[in-house]
Formats: sequence, structure tokens, C-alpha cells
Amino acid sequence: MEDKKKVIFSGIQPSGNLTLGNYLGAIKNWVKLQDEYDCYFCVVDLHAITVMQKPADLRKRTLEILAIYIASGIIPEKNTLFIQSHVPAHSECSWLLTCNGYMGELSRMTQYKEKSKKSGESIGAGLFTYPLLMASDILLYQTDVVPVGADQVQHLELARDLAERFNKTYSPTFTIPEAYLSKTGAKIMDLQNPEKKMSKSEDNPNSYILIMDEPDIIRKKISRAVTDSIGEVKYSDEQPGVKNLMTILSNIKGYTFEEIENKYKGQGYAQFKNDVAEAIVEELTPVQERVKALLENKSELEEIYKKGAEKANYVANKTLRKMQKKIGFIPR
Ligand code: AMP
Ligand code: TRP
Repeated sequence: MEDKKKVIFSGIQPSGNLTLGNYLGAIKNWVKLQDEYDCYFCVVDLHAITVMQKPADLRKRTLEILAIYIASGIIPEKNTLFIQSHVPAHSECSWLLTCNGYMGELSRMTQYKEKSKKSGESIGAGLFTYPLLMASDILLYQTDVVPVGADQVQHLELARDLAERFNKTYSPTFTIPEAYLSKTGAKIMDLQNPEKKMSKSEDNPNSYILIMDEPDIIRKKISRAVTDSIGEVKYSDEQPGVKNLMTILSNIKGYTFEEIENKYKGQGYAQFKNDVAEAIVEELTPVQERVKALLENKSELEEIYKKGAEKANYVANKTLRKMQKKIGFIPR
């Protein structure tokens, strides 16, 4: 018999437009993992409302992210692609875990500390309990591996702790998930402040490239990207801006850093920046075209997320029923 594939779960919040960082750091890696694993890729809309979202924007972005997943090469027939709010088990499980989580462990979460600072007086309670919802996402599918960025490792540790606690309090119920920090998946930095991660929540649009940015916008943003006065294309910590552009080029084209250094030796930055911009345009244009086509004909997209939700509901409910039974609820 064929070995059962390990399970992957990952998701992106529809709380902003996706950037080149999301694309190179997350989605492109998922594409590589889809053959080897049984993958659940989710658009986590329940997470997005931890901060206020305009309803029309939320609707638009949720579908756009799903379309981006598919346009980037995630094959719907091979994976489970779905929208988080279409699977009620996430919300239900989250309550059960809320009653198993501790105030102390939640208040230690770095992301909560940072985001709550920005919220002033009225901090949404969801911002505080959010890691429990994330743990639910992961644990409901008996997930083995969770591809995430370094900023999410703390949340994943919490999911592991909760799973172990539940397994010990009741009886073995959950697979203990592991973080997968991709070695090849680049961390893409802010184009204006290359000490910071490129983020969709940055105010200055020159800081990031969106997956859906028009070619001329991409060219403009790269030409404005902050570099330095050294004038040499070199992969060095002293040149974070250049280093970041090299990372982007290397990630898209597969060149090594040495190859890039040799190619632009003694040339300054103009041609280099130009080539980086063209590489991004070449990479994103076909993705954008497929996204637009998918969004034009919503019925195909609808069929995909409905099918995904059906499968996800089945698997998630199985785990949820087990939890409910062990906790002492009367089976329905
Ligand atoms: P976020 O946009 O922060 O919700 O992140 C969604 C996914 O994209 C996570 O897996 C992140 O690790 C990844 N990601 C976001 N920004 C970047 C970036 N600048 N470089 C690499 N990966 C990123
Ligand atoms: N919290 C993650 C982020 O902000 C998104 C997310 C929600 C997620 N649920 C998840 C990631 C489950 C991996 C697994 O990036």
C-alpha cells in the first residue's frame, strides 16, 4: 500500500493586497510542496477580521487570494483550497481551545504585543485570542507540517503546546505539528527600508511590490528602491538594499549570488536594477493574467472553493466530533 502523505496546512489573511514577499516567501514554496504532501491551503478570512475590514474589500481580496494561489501554480484538483469561514469547525474548535488555553501564554505572543500597541484603547479581543484560532486551523486537519515565516513560529509553538495539553488531559487526539521554515524561500525586505520585512501593511507603496502591480509600477518601484553609495553589486550585510534585490533576482531566475556579482562587476546599479525589474515583470505577468481570467469567470472559482470546503468540512468535523465527545458533550 502507498504510504499516506504527510499533511500540510497554511494560510494567508485577506487583510491587504499580497506582495512579492508573500509570493516568493510563501506561495511559490507551496507550489513546490504540493506533490509530496496532502496540502490544505486556506484563505483565512476569520483571522482577517481581528482588525476592522471594509466588507467590500474583504470580499474582493478573499477571492483574489484564492485566484492568486491557483494562478501561481497550486493545482485545485491536487490540493484542498478553501475559505476558512466556509468551515464552521474552525470557529467551534477555537472556542474549545480557548477554554484550554491560558491568559499567560497568549499575553506572551509578540505579534499581539505589537499589534495591540497600534490599536490604542480599544483592542479587539480577537487580536488576543487569535493564536487559538490559528491552532484550530492547524490541529483540525491533523497537520504534520506548517510552512510559515519566522514571525509565526511562536504561534506554532503554542499550537503544539495546546495539542499536547489536550492529548494529555483527555487522550491522544491531535498530531503534533512542526514548523517548516523554508531554506530556499526568501525573506524579501522593504524596498525603502531594507532592514524591515516587505509587508502589505506598510503605508508607503514604494516599499513593496504587489503581486498585481502593473509592469510600469514595478519598474518604477524597483528604480526607486533604496541602495547605497558603494556602487558595487555585492551580497553583503553592509548593502542591505542591494542584497535584497539580489535575493529577488536569484529567487526568480535561479542564479547564484556569485553569478549575479560577476555579471554586474564594475557596472553600478542601473542595468542590475533594470534586470531585476524585468525579471519580476516576467514572473508576475502570467500570474496576473490568470488571476484576471479567474476573477472574470467566478463560476470556476466558486466550484473550486465549494469543493474545497466540502473536503475540508469532512476532515475538520471528524476531529471536532472527537474533541466534543472527549470533552463530554452529548453526541448529536
Ligand atoms: P502575512 O502577509 O504576514 O500574513 O504572511 C503570509 C505569508 O507570507 C507567511 O507565510 C509569511 O511568512 C509570508 N511572507 C510575508 N511577507 C514576506 C516577506 N517579506 N518575505 C518572505 N515571506 C513573506
Ligand atoms: N497567522 C498567519 C499569518 O498571519 C496566517 C495563518 C492563519 C496561518 N492560520 C494559519 C498560517 C495556519 C499557517 C497555518 O501569516
